[in-house]
Amino acid sequence: MRNARKFTAMAAGLAVASLALAACSSGDAGDNESGGTGSSDEVEVFTWWASGSEKLGLDALVGVFDTQNPDVEFINGAVAGGAGSAAKDLLQSRLQANDPPDTFQAHAGAELTDYINAGQVDDVSDLYDEFGLRDTFPADLVERLTVDGKIYSIPSNIHRANVVWANTQLLTDSGLDPAAKYETIDDWFVALDAVKEKTGRTPLSLATTWTQVNLLETILLADLGAEGYNGLWDGSTDWASSEVTDALADFEKLISYTNTDRDGLDWPDATQQVIDGNAAFNVMGDWAVAAFEEAGKKAPADYVYMPVPGTDGVFDFLADSFTLPVGAPHPEGAKAWLKTVGSLEGQVAFNKAKGSIPARNDAKPEDFSEYQQSAMTSFGQDTIVSSLAHGAAAPVAWSNAISDATSKFTTGGGDLAGFQADLVAAAEANAS
Ligand code: GAL
Repeated sequence: MRNARKFTAMAAGLAVASLALAACSSGDAGDNESGGTGSSDEVEVFTWWASGSEKLGLDALVGVFDTQNPDVEFINGAVAGGAGSAAKDLLQSRLQANDPPDTFQAHAGAELTDYINAGQVDDVSDLYDEFGLRDTFPADLVERLTVDGKIYSIPSNIHRANVVWANTQLLTDSGLDPAAKYETIDDWFVALDAVKEKTGRTPLSLATTWTQVNLLETILLADLGAEGYNGLWDGSTDWASSEVTDALADFEKLISYTNTDRDGLDWPDATQQVIDGNAAFNVMGDWAVAAFEEAGKKAPADYVYMPVPGTDGVFDFLADSFTLPVGAPHPEGAKAWLKTVGSLEGQVAFNKAKGSIPARNDAKPEDFSEYQQSAMTSFGQDTIVSSLAHGAAAPVAWSNAISDATSKFTTGGGDLAGFQADLVAAAEANAS
């Protein structure tokens, strides 16, 4: 059933736009231009899953890898910083210096297309045949990994970015029904006010810039709807429109409910505030569920979750995938890693620990948590849109420009009109 899901047309547009440039990317899985030894005895895996629940996810995958490949040494190239906030720049320097890791984490969609267009990753279509993966993933997901008929990575999971996590006790203390869903952002403001007035705790926890962009994208989605949000990326929604102004005003108001030390924090800190009952709500991708579980918390007794108000029925999608970089020093080790990533055993172990759902369409829902089963249902029936903060919606340069504008705004570097003007300029400079 999940194969039948409709992703937005945006991905196809990006893929088409990339066709001409894709010719830059050379080699294939069987012909890696490594110049290395091709030795299969080690593999450096570059991710940003360096600590906490994210590392537990990686460890689970490595556990399967070690069992499947007892002779290949796993070298952990993880660079800390949620959403790759530090890793991506470092990776780019390494790729430009012809010093690639053997495989790296890349988001399906626009971000992966950047690597493909730059000729930094090899075609792994042959591996799809060799590992029997052709019919294993949703067709629309594979489309986001494909340029000019060649597939450039193997997906490990599917995450949802538009989720609100909340502390059950703090909601109760605020006179709120923990089971309540908020249909609109305005309804949510009423609840945020109640938390502030009744408990004096932080209504909405937030962290560094990328988490602010994650929040921003979900508010754009709530206020513009899926079609309007998609239009931001394909040019059919005007960034200068009054609808965008209204969404930015909601974003500005939401920021007023957040902790002022946000810029010094990463996502686990903001989510921890909800886990500990120091904040009521946190908007975070569903890797957060793994943090609640790691802390021994149970839903709904300790925490509850819901789509960001105004986004029910829409699944703000992202997928981590693994690549074979051009010039990987240990392509055989990389292929062994990619095989584990694509395997049912690898996907079940990894996703159970990571909070995401398997990209493969043959995993059994009953092997997963209640939250994950709800995510599987949503993914199967919701409208799917692409996450901005997690590389699916816009190329890295555009996404960086939006991050800069957001940070400037939330750190007091301008008013709403200036923020919108910066976003308009970012679109003008980067939209294809
Ligand atoms: C996303 C990534 C997720 C998770 C999150 C927080 O970009 O796709 O797997 O790691 O960042 O770091």
